[in-house]
Amino acid sequence: MENPFVTYHYAGPAYFCDREAELSKLIEAFDNQRYLLLHSMRRIGKSGLIHHFHHTLKKRKNVVTIYCDIHNTRSDEEFIAKLIMSAVTSVEKSKKGIVSRVGNFFT
Ligand SMILES: Nc1ncnc2c1ncn2[C@@H]1O[C@H](COP(=O)(O)OP(=O)(O)OP(=O)(O)O)[C@@H](O)[C@H]1O
Ligand SMILES: [Mg+2]
Repeated sequence: MENPFVTYHYAGPAYFCDREAELSKLIEAFDNQRYLLLHSMRRIGKSGLIHHFHHTLKKRKNVVTIYCDIHNTRSDEEFIAKLIMSAVTSVEKSKKGIVSRVGNFFT
């Protein structure tokens, strides 16, 4: 039998509980072009919420989301490499007209 409990990654909305108020706040900030800092104690659900937020935004035609975890970067060079790789991977994955052409350019 497959393990029904997901414990280490975001597995889509079917496995994501609640956080509706927090999600609305993220969407509201995004729609109004406001930066947002999310902080809490460890393992409370920050990363999961960001993945869920991105999943929600992906339904919009003109939006490409980029997830970049810089936790393990140890220098400016590593940070920049990771940021670029995250951006290129996200843009390549999306098939959204002009944006995918930008991805081709970066590749
Ligand atoms: N709303 C949710 N519904 C179901 N599972 C969740 C939810 N939020 C978090 N989880 C799960 O709980 C665990 C911890 O969540 P997450 O990694 O998002 O926390 P975090 O705050 O980013 O942790 P850290 O401080 O270590 O970065 C993960 O396995 C994640 O899949
Ligand atoms: Mg996290």
